[in-house]
Amino acid sequence: MFLPRGHQALKRRFSSLLSPIQAQQIHNRTEVCEENLERYCSGGYHPVHIGDEFDSSRYKGEEIDSGRYKIVGKLGYGAFSTVWLAQNLKPSHRVKNRHVALKFLTADTSFEMGNTTLERSILKKLNKESNNSPGVNRITKLLHDFTFSGPNGKHSCLVFKPTGPSLSEYRKLFPGLRVPVPIVKNIARQLLQGLAYLHDTCNVVHTDIKLQNILIDTPEMDKIFDRTPTELFLRESHPVNPPDNFYMQSTSFVPEEILKNSADISIKLADFGSACYTFQHLTEWIQPDVFRAPEVILGDEWKQKVDIWNFGLVIWELVQGKLCFDGQVNATTPYSSEAHLAQMQAILGPFPDSLIKSSTSSDKYFDSQGRLMSDIHIRPVSLSSMNAHSGAVEGEEASNFVDFIHRTLALQPRQRPSAYELLQSRWLRSPLERRSSYRRGISKWR
Ligand SMILES: Nc1ncnc2c1ncn2[C@@H]1O[C@H](COP(=O)(O)OP(=O)(O)O)[C@@H](O)[C@H]1O
Ligand SMILES: [Mg+2]
Repeated sequence: MFLPRGHQALKRRFSSLLSPIQAQQIHNRTEVCEENLERYCSGGYHPVHIGDEFDSSRYKGEEIDSGRYKIVGKLGYGAFSTVWLAQNLKPSHRVKNRHVALKFLTADTSFEMGNTTLERSILKKLNKESNNSPGVNRITKLLHDFTFSGPNGKHSCLVFKPTGPSLSEYRKLFPGLRVPVPIVKNIARQLLQGLAYLHDTCNVVHTDIKLQNILIDTPEMDKIFDRTPTELFLRESHPVNPPDNFYMQSTSFVPEEILKNSADISIKLADFGSACYTFQHLTEWIQPDVFRAPEVILGDEWKQKVDIWNFGLVIWELVQGKLCFDGQVNATTPYSSEAHLAQMQAILGPFPDSLIKSSTSSDKYFDSQGRLMSDIHIRPVSLSSMNAHSGAVEGEEASNFVDFIHRTLALQPRQRPSAYELLQSRWLRSPLERRSSYRRGISKWR
């Protein structure tokens, strides 16, 4: 069985403190399956506890920027942060919300640009640019931010409105992890509006579009967070014994029934931790492995179109309940760029010469004739037959869906449409989603 590295660290730590029987009891009881506990170290995560208070004026000394927040429960985690629900003890004109989400960055990512992070600076730019584009509402808005010092260093904390769970949790409501097509179309339109705003107005590339970074956010959820007394949110903490008793598992504070019955799902694109400007890259190591665009794997120049590739794969995953490319030769082999490129070629056809010629790492993967050098052979298969085999989208919808995904997966980034162009696609325009078609979609899993 795979044990997260944090769990193994925990086992080692406990084993030295407890008798074998006591240690075994704790191992059996405790499930550490979220952030890596080894990263609670100098430069890493800040240990947050239920009831902790953060008074930003105390740390910044600027009354105008003050805020006081009291931790209520854990909302989520990522490689560079933990995110917590907190009570807003000092509502202001800027942060009126009764409850907020606090994203505590690890200390070593908190000041990567000297006195700030690119994440914070981009979020501020996104707030400033808003030009009444509908896309502004599809992106998480930074309400406030502050810094504080803890045992593991100095951290940046970003304050947001709390939302419902991410799409990676939401899709678990549906058999086979397949979200009904009318709902996916709705999500696709909103994501594209957000991307059009990011790409065209703000010159920002997200670089990390995945289900965990797309949050469900409906008016019902706003009501829950703004009207529910804090006491009702307080969860019994599920701590590991000291010294790791800061660990707890994330909870969804939005009842499942509300999620299931929300007729109009709206979403927000979150996590600008890897985002960058088209003219200022944070790193060339972008995108989760299985979502890497060909120009990224091959070391060519990249811009906004990497997000379009990523977007297409996320929409495929939501509809089909599984990844389009996994980069594995078979279920037991690890991810490799070679297998990933071979899968792209099997599904999308040969790589264009122009891309091979302009990419710096092409020599690693292609021979002088532009053929993949690896001995991984995958039988060609079309997106259309993959969809027909799964039966996820049927009838006249099928060809519109496949065509839509195909366009997002153009191997040559120049040929990929922009977010704005995709919004005009036939699949998203026809048939117009009406409440009745939503109900038809939803009735399948009720
Ligand atoms: N505003 C929010 N409301 C509710 N949950 C959130 C919010 N922001 C983040 N989360 C949860 O926390 C997780 C980690 O946040 P994210 O910004 O993706 O951090 P990281 O940069 O570490 O990946 C998300 O996947 C989501 O589950
Ligand atoms: Mg994330």
